Amino acid sequence: MSTQDKFSLAQSRALYERARLVMPGGVNASARFDPALKHPLFMDHGEGAYVYDADGNRYIDYNLSHGASLLGHGHPAVVAAVQEALQRGVLAAYETEVQVEVAERLLRLFPGAEMVRYAGTGTEATWHALRIARAYTGKWGVAKFEGHYHGVNDTVGFSCRPPMAVAGPADSPTPVPESAGIPPYSADLVTVLPFNDIEALERGLRANAENMAALIMEPINYDAQGIRPTPEFLHAVRELTRELGIVLIFDEVLSCFRVGPGAALADSGVTPDMTVLGKAVGGGIPISVLLGTRAIMETCTPTGPALHSGTYNAPLMHVVAIGAFLDQVTSPGFYEHLYALGDRLYAGMRDIFQRHGLTAWVQGIGARFGLLFGLDSEPRNYRDTTRQNMAQMAAFHLGCLKRGVYLHHFSPHHGFSSAHTMADIEETLDVMDQVAGEMARGGE
Ligand SMILES: Cc1ncc(COP(=O)(O)O)c(C=O)c1O
Repeated sequence: MSTQDKFSLAQSRALYERARLVMPGGVNASARFDPALKHPLFMDHGEGAYVYDADGNRYIDYNLSHGASLLGHGHPAVVAAVQEALQRGVLAAYETEVQVEVAERLLRLFPGAEMVRYAGTGTEATWHALRIARAYTGKWGVAKFEGHYHGVNDTVGFSCRPPMAVAGPADSPTPVPESAGIPPYSADLVTVLPFNDIEALERGLRANAENMAALIMEPINYDAQGIRPTPEFLHAVRELTRELGIVLIFDEVLSCFRVGPGAALADSGVTPDMTVLGKAVGGGIPISVLLGTRAIMETCTPTGPALHSGTYNAPLMHVVAIGAFLDQVTSPGFYEHLYALGDRLYAGMRDIFQRHGLTAWVQGIGARFGLLFGLDSEPRNYRDTTRQNMAQMAAFHLGCLKRGVYLHHFSPHHGFSSAHTMADIEETLDVMDQVAGEMARGGE
């Protein structure tokens, strides 16, 4: 498809004018406000690999509900499972056999984990994981890496995307709050560390170990465009946390099931003490999961002292969606399809940028990728990514949007789903080729 016939965002703009009178910024999540458009894109519906906006434009979707829709929008198996749960009377706050069976299935996919609890969003799950780790260790402090995101969570809402002017020294970053309203004393409990720097890691952990309950990290730092830990760094993380009595939490809200049926670093030989899952695991239905060793997880009430409860913990309608999701990701050929799409998309994008003389780094890992204009080498930490050219990304995003390809330019990660076909990827590359060509000619 070339530029969509009579492309217009008039309905989106009109809805924004209404929405901003009743919802701050016209949105319910600030990330949905599109700074390039200067308003949110209002959607009408999604189907498989596509979203259709309020103006009737169809987009091949590379946002996918910020990564939640790994199966595409409205996967029939997920929809059927949810409909069946609705027939059973919704059952929001009751245990059934389904919660047990899904827990058993998840544990088979996450080596080292022995018990499960469900929560609602990724934010809730990381918050609970940190509370449980604090209760388990009797310590308060938490370590996190600069550039890693763990939700809108006061406990670790620091230095996810800090402006460089206030970020502090590279080997000992200053905790920079992500939001106003986070109590200053939260900063006293947080140690921010640079990713992939073994010396700084060891220094930071040893200096604070006595009061450090947990180290939380994204095993693949998709929230900074997909940065992998080096094998040496990853092993140092595991060995030091074990030696110093610090609970190691892998926040897999974004990375789980992205590169294979389970943990993102399943092949690394490193297993955390706790893992948090979210986004994709519910097949697009909101639910998150906490997994961990028996000793740590039994810190939860009623077997231990850390209160973990909630009316909407593990509603049947949401847990059945996990079951349907697991059926899909464990079915033969699921990851072969994803890898074939990714290989073609990433190679195609690299070729396009090179042919048009645009400097851009495509950081593709499994079904999600970063795209950094202005970089010509793989980023090793958040600070490397701050060299990217956001104005070029905005231009690329707008050019693609007009032609029916949706990348959320403000987002540090993009991705595709199992519902995408090779024809969708070819159509996408065709669009990207046109947009990159325009940009190279100084037109977009
Ligand atoms: C790694 C990671 N952790 C936690 C969260 C928070 O999840 P939620 O948006 O469901 O609260 C996100 C969301 O982007 C995430 O990427």
